[in-house]
Amino acid sequence: MTITAATVSYKELGFVNTSEMFKKAMKEGYAVPAYNFNNMEQLQAIISACVKTRSPVILQISKGARKYANATLLRYMALGAIEMMKEMGDPVPVALHLDHGDSFELCKSCMDNGFSSVMIDGSALPFEKNVELTKQVVEYAHPRDVSVEAELGVLAGIEEHVSSEKSHYTNPDDVEDFVKKTGVDSLAISIGTSHGAYKFKVKPGESIPPLRFDILEEVEKRIPGFVIVLHGSSSVLSSYIEMINKNGGKMEGAAGVPAEQLRKAAKSAVCKINIDTDGRMVMTAMIRKIFSEKPEEFDPRKYLGPARDELEKMYMDKNETVLGSAGKA
Ligand code: G3H
Ligand code: 13P
Ligand code: ZN
Repeated sequence: MTITAATVSYKELGFVNTSEMFKKAMKEGYAVPAYNFNNMEQLQAIISACVKTRSPVILQISKGARKYANATLLRYMALGAIEMMKEMGDPVPVALHLDHGDSFELCKSCMDNGFSSVMIDGSALPFEKNVELTKQVVEYAHPRDVSVEAELGVLAGIEEHVSSEKSHYTNPDDVEDFVKKTGVDSLAISIGTSHGAYKFKVKPGESIPPLRFDILEEVEKRIPGFVIVLHGSSSVLSSYIEMINKNGGKMEGAAGVPAEQLRKAAKSAVCKINIDTDGRMVMTAMIRKIFSEKPEEFDPRKYLGPARDELEKMYMDKNETVLGSAGKA
């Protein structure tokens, strides 16, 4: 099947939009995993973990991933995953999602090429500009049944150009107006998470500060039943920090969102939880370990294979014990 000519709808390719996924997640109190991928091993691990745990999944592709691996190749890889699941006779619902789209043109290009969901991230713009851009994307997406995620409030990390402490959190006073004006399907909010492996600065003996559940609760009151998304939700698992540091790496001070906080969020209106960093760290940890234990190894399959297996285990654990999405496909 050629998916480069003219435009192609995700429906022909076997993806689903996020509407049914989120309806069920909201009703049953769990969150759908949104895992990023940039390469084949990550994609294999995500698909295999979600098939084994019978979890729906949102496959996320960022602008950076498109630049790294080539947009067309990534799209065909996701399509390949769908075909592989069909052949195996055990497909789970998969949405193909653009992570942090930064322009109408990028969102349009993804929608025209088989994505079932896009994020338009206008969070760094003034409120009215964010509304305008998000609305433009929604107006193109909805006639095509494509889901749209937007963001209000700014996370640290890749959004670090905004430095004011106050502006990091979503203002609950803004959400109702934003959702009404844009017609968006889900909203990413900022309640203390951030992207990457260094989310909190904690001194030895100190504990990680809790997320701002008070903001989340206030948002839920203003837009009852509306789907909320959490970005920056990797836990930055200590076993992999240790494995990395033990094998020549240097990730001192890395800290993420404790699993308990994510479990609590998943039971609320948070129906999508984004995880990328944890996957990156698993791969790095395993490859470092193998390189230091077997310096003679030079066949990439001998280190990428075990890294992929470990990744699969980590994703299965997220679905089963953190997000609650296992068994919900
Ligand atoms: O939110 C950011 C994701 O982790 C994607 O990161 O832009 O480096 O691919 P990236
Ligand atoms: P992490 O960096 O915490 O994995 O967050 C990923 C993310 O939000 C992707 O959009
Ligand atoms: Zn993000």
